Amino acid sequence: MIPRIYIPADSGALALGAEKVAKAIASELAERGIEAKIVRNGSRGAYFLEPMVEVATANGRVAYGPVRPSDVKSLFDSGFLTGGPHKRWLGAPDKIPFLAKQTRLTFARCGVTDPLSLESYKKHGGLNGLTNALELTPAAIVAQVTESGLRGRGGAGFPTGIKWKTVLDTVGDRKYIVCNADEGDSGTFADRMIMEGDPFVLIEGMTIAGVATGATKGFVYIRSEYPHAVAVMNKAVEVARKAGVLGASVLGSSYAFDMEIRVGAGAYVCGEETALLDSLEGKRGMVRAKPPLPAHKGLFGKPTVINNVISLASVPVIMDKGAAFYKDFGMGRSRGTIPIQIAGNVKYGGLFEAAFGMTLGEIVDEIGGGTATGRPVKAVQVGGPLGAYFPRALFDTPFDYEAFAAKDGLIGHAGIVVFDDTADMLKQARFAMEFCAIESCGKCTPCRIGSTRGVETIDKITAGIEPEKNLALVTDLCNTMKFGSLCALGGFTPYPVMSSITHFPDDFKPAPVRVAAE
Ligand SMILES: Cc1cc2nc3c(=O)[nH]c(=O)nc-3n(C[C@H](O)[C@H](O)[C@H](O)COP(=O)(O)O)c2cc1C
Ligand code: SF4
Repeated sequence: MIPRIYIPADSGALALGAEKVAKAIASELAERGIEAKIVRNGSRGAYFLEPMVEVATANGRVAYGPVRPSDVKSLFDSGFLTGGPHKRWLGAPDKIPFLAKQTRLTFARCGVTDPLSLESYKKHGGLNGLTNALELTPAAIVAQVTESGLRGRGGAGFPTGIKWKTVLDTVGDRKYIVCNADEGDSGTFADRMIMEGDPFVLIEGMTIAGVATGATKGFVYIRSEYPHAVAVMNKAVEVARKAGVLGASVLGSSYAFDMEIRVGAGAYVCGEETALLDSLEGKRGMVRAKPPLPAHKGLFGKPTVINNVISLASVPVIMDKGAAFYKDFGMGRSRGTIPIQIAGNVKYGGLFEAAFGMTLGEIVDEIGGGTATGRPVKAVQVGGPLGAYFPRALFDTPFDYEAFAAKDGLIGHAGIVVFDDTADMLKQARFAMEFCAIESCGKCTPCRIGSTRGVETIDKITAGIEPEKNLALVTDLCNTMKFGSLCALGGFTPYPVMSSITHFPDDFKPAPVRVAAE
């Protein structure tokens, strides 16, 4: 058997030098006259170990990482093709603590299989969910998804089954499945990893959604900053079409479903579902007033399911192993697993899929290993740029939609960004307002005008101008934005601002040496 070498082509691994490593390995193979197959897989998400190279040995896979091009010669010299010892030797990937501690349901194949091989996908359980779904009525599929407790992973946590039921029950001559792959939240990369590392799971999830709701066409709206994901998804759709997974007869059934990949133009607000629909229709991305809900009148005025990548990619395992299996994981009303993305100033950054319920402290201190700088953790922003900053005093908060809401925070797309004690929370509060001002679609006044006034008022606090009065003004402004904005961009910007003021009041005290924010 010729040796197999797995080298990730995931963007994160590429950014860390995976391409150079792949080239060095290929030329070393040629020089030594060794025949081997190089598979460009996705990443398993332990980014502190990327580029992580794996070899298939008689005793299973053996990983090495982080591999530098300069390691390649010595890797060959130490017999890495048969799992030989080396300073980069990590052993069986499943035993690496960061990976061993996870519960991989949605990401089970990511970093393991060849992303564009349907054979490899099927060998690892791919298409079981769709095959089972095709045996059921649409209503029974929707019931399974509802029963699983799956909630939208894009941010709002809305029950996926209920959304699907609304579309199933709405009459339309054409219905659509739209996958939201805009992934604009800071510190998030789960959608990208799935699209690059296991694109068929998303295609399978979307196809199940189509069969379940009567939609025959799907669109994946991917942010333009993800060229690798766009390329992989386009190729995967082609492969799926050729294999009859997509097309006029899905896996030989009476259902038709096909899909297209569309690329966004780089606006954060185009991740908001109605602005995304406008953008897909070729218009400037502006938030639409609801009602009508997209489920009733969505893309081109037709009933539309719009779901996040991870929501859709979680459906195949539910349809494969059953709603009860999935529901068994998690806590409270947060069922199943959630891919937590650990980023920022953190020692072990990466993607960690786990059942809901771990505390924030466990995630940051034990899984993330604290800060990369070695300084104390000061704050953790959870849920993207609209998420609250959590101080250490709230580290006992379990990762659960309701528990976070009870602490005036949100889980969002489950991205967490860690800051050490050098972070200036006044600057972070200003940044939140400035971000809102830049990204606002401009449709409603509290967000469009409020965010700019917010920046100006925080600048006055920074400059020591009537700090108490201006702090009260920012608080008042946050209330107006929270309750008066049309969508969550203006409505949630108060979370990072108010959590900074509430949990880090010392950073807002006038300091004579403080200079105006640049
Ligand atoms: C300003 C803003 C940006 C958003 N960005 C995203 C995004 O990038 N990806 C995403 O899936 N949802 C995003 N959302 C949430 C979507 O509006 C919507 O709730 C989601 O796509 C629904 O899918 P889900 O039920 O599967 O989560 C955003 C919302 C707002 C208000
Ligand atoms: S809150 Fe902001 S982004 Fe949302 S509709 Fe209003 S102006 Fe547009």
